[in-house]
Amino acid sequence: MTEHLAEEAARKLPLRDSDEIQGDILAGFRKDHESVLLLRFPQDPAPVRQWLRRLIPQIATTRQIAAFNAEFSAARHNLAGTDPAGLRVTWVNLSLTYAGLKFLMGAEPFPDQTPPGVQAFVQGASQRAGINGDEGDSTPENWLFGRDEQPVHAVITVASDEQALLEVRASELRVAAARAGLTVVFEQTGATLPGNSKGHEHFGFKDGVSQPGVAGFDRPDPSDPVHVAGKPGTRIVPAGEFVLGHPKLEGEPSTLPEWTRNGSFQVVRRLAQDVPAWWAQAGAVRRQLDREGVELPPGTGTEWLAARAVGRWRSGASVAHNPNAEPPAKPGAPDDNMISYVDDPEGHVTPHFAHIRKTNPRDGLGNGHNPADVRRIIRRGIPYGQPFDPAAGDGHGPDADRGLVFIAYMSDIDFQFEFLQRRWINNPDFRQQETGRDPVIGQDTDVNLKLDTLPGGKKLHFAQFVRTEGTIYAFAPALSTLRGLAQRP
Ligand code: HEM
Repeated sequence: MTEHLAEEAARKLPLRDSDEIQGDILAGFRKDHESVLLLRFPQDPAPVRQWLRRLIPQIATTRQIAAFNAEFSAARHNLAGTDPAGLRVTWVNLSLTYAGLKFLMGAEPFPDQTPPGVQAFVQGASQRAGINGDEGDSTPENWLFGRDEQPVHAVITVASDEQALLEVRASELRVAAARAGLTVVFEQTGATLPGNSKGHEHFGFKDGVSQPGVAGFDRPDPSDPVHVAGKPGTRIVPAGEFVLGHPKLEGEPSTLPEWTRNGSFQVVRRLAQDVPAWWAQAGAVRRQLDREGVELPPGTGTEWLAARAVGRWRSGASVAHNPNAEPPAKPGAPDDNMISYVDDPEGHVTPHFAHIRKTNPRDGLGNGHNPADVRRIIRRGIPYGQPFDPAAGDGHGPDADRGLVFIAYMSDIDFQFEFLQRRWINNPDFRQQETGRDPVIGQDTDVNLKLDTLPGGKKLHFAQFVRTEGTIYAFAPALSTLRGLAQRP
């Protein structure tokens, strides 16, 4: 690329150079080891402001992460797909809950009245549990964090390429917090799964395949500019859907106060996964189909049924393109994400209840354009706990803690995360089709499995084996806003 063209390309992607937007929002940390520290402030704001002043220089910016990730990807490419050993870093970011923000501002953050788009953030996650379907075992009384009686003011995410580096940094952060009188209310660690399971969640499926592209951050494909270059099917969405103060798909950029500019709302959720129970259920449901004489393609077993629940096979290959069998791996091929549901209106291939169709119906909502784009979220989750493997002993058995530390960024928690939970995941009448809830993460449900050979559908029961064990709603402010908060008298 000539210098002129390189400059032009860089100019069109100004968000890659942002020293304002914190890291992990647009540019993902992408680390194998992570720790989320949930902190409570003491009574006196002065030492907290001092703590914040010292923390700010350690917070990673989008510019730093984007540059590092580009260097890492280039090195990986040169090493034929293995991770470059020398490139090891630890990143930190910080978000504040409504209570934390109010404490540091010394005043009501939204003085006039609660503007649209921040209701959920202001109320806090435990007050919104009903909206999110957190019932039964998932109610806030059972949570490890996020309960009203155990307030959290700040969330530090620290992520590293190496466990030892993570531990050193997390310990430094804990010491600094303690010196200023802050309490660590809870610490949630996470790590990518080992070996070939890296990049997969505990049920065994590849995760993080489909993310939105972001205008001004991701390079558009010159021959197909609605998608990100090199990532077929990754639609580019205006930055204002994730970061405040930027253009959105619909309506005004934002009516929120100036201090919100370049910040992003964050949802942190600990979702426990009962892996043996979920797979046992998939097997039982699959056998029920045989017992009831449902005609299925030859050779299809429990994996086929589980792939229908997710919408992808374990490898990440889509059911949309590979309805009946997992295709052989194609090293170096881009992720299978150029998915359309237009030709599958009844959900005979990818069921309407499938997790990926529920959480991103794409062009399958029936009105021509992609209204699902306004509900997109940027997911930065990581598994916690050891993989289920009864032969491996301690920590790998059925009772050990394991699940997903779900972390997502967006510009409106109510309109994006909560809408997904309420109107899609836990809605049995998704698209007026009585399709059932999401059988991967939704509440107990009867899904309606439809196939070309079964157009009328068959009701199949799925109990819920993902339990909410804590939720925090927070806001990751721009670096300049954090500096302002640290300076206040
Ligand atoms: C334990 C809990 C969860 C598990 C095991 C899980 C698993 C998965 C898997 C395997 C995929 C497919 C890979 C991919 O496209 O990236 C996926 C995609 C996705 N999940 Fe989840 N997920 C969980 C929770 C959630 C929650 C709570 C939400 C949102 C409220 C969510 C939203 C999404 C979205 C938006 C996609 C991408 C869909 C697409 O664009 O096609 N997930 N998830």
